[in-house]
Amino acid sequence: MTADQAVRTALVTGASRGIGLAIARLLAASGVRVALVARSAAELSAHAAELGGGALAVPADVTSAADVARVISATRDAFGDVPDLLVNTAGIFVPKPLHVLTADEFERTIQVNLVAPFLLLRAVLPRWRELGRGHAITIGSIVDRTIFADNGAYSASKFGARGMHEVLRAETKGTGVRATLVAPSSTDTPIWDSVDLPASNRYPPRERMLSAQAVAEAVVWAAMRPSSVNVDELRLSAS
Ligand SMILES: NC(=O)c1ccc[n+]([C@@H]2O[C@H](COP(=O)([O-])OP(=O)(O)OC[C@H]3O[C@@H](n4cnc5c(N)ncnc54)[C@H](OP(=O)(O)O)[C@@H]3O)[C@@H](O)[C@H]2O)c1
Repeated sequence: MTADQAVRTALVTGASRGIGLAIARLLAASGVRVALVARSAAELSAHAAELGGGALAVPADVTSAADVARVISATRDAFGDVPDLLVNTAGIFVPKPLHVLTADEFERTIQVNLVAPFLLLRAVLPRWRELGRGHAITIGSIVDRTIFADNGAYSASKFGARGMHEVLRAETKGTGVRATLVAPSSTDTPIWDSVDLPASNRYPPRERMLSAQAVAEAVVWAAMRPSSVNVDELRLSAS
């Protein structure tokens, strides 16, 4: 920890597996007390126990405003205040062409990938502005600028998340509150378990994707910059 380290507590959504779990692990290894959020209660408890250092598991559906209020209340109780760092990682990916995608799948994707990050941000921002510090890191995707077929709902949600991040950055510049967008390309996580990669012929094989650890390292690097530095955006792809 450096003397200027602004991050002592963090709330990480999507922490039951994949990129969110890798971020939670790396933050904990960097001396940060982490609240892990996702729906899978048993996995979260096991991961919190493994992390130690006062990590806590807060099972919740981030699309529910009531659950988000409960998460913030639990982290305030545990940390004594809102978390210094919010990492909005929870996300879903339904790769289907628009003429096949259902209205429910479209709406659910927007709820998890865009509305939920707003609900969490909205819950901590007033206090961050009061304190003159706090850091929101959004896990976006390269599809927030680059268009691929079969990404109608996902790309719409990630373009939206980038838009919200850029507005947040404009609104918080000069306040001490920081905002970072981390946009990875395909990353080897369980999100791909239900995708027939050879048949889709659109994505690299899993061994050629980024690792969740590489994405986590970018997130923790951005979080650990001196508080006078804002990392606006990081875009990652496999070399
Ligand atoms: N993997 C990639 O290729 C890739 C590339 C670029 C960006 N991303 C982005 O990275 C983020 C993490 O993806 P990943 O690959 O790590 O996916 P993953 O392995 O499928 O993990 C997704 C996480 O989100 C949580 N989650 C989903 N719906 C939720 C809900 N309603 N409430 C609370 N938690 C919820 C899941 O937990 P529960 O199921 O336990 O709730 C899980 O912890 C996503 O935003 C994704 O869009 C991924």
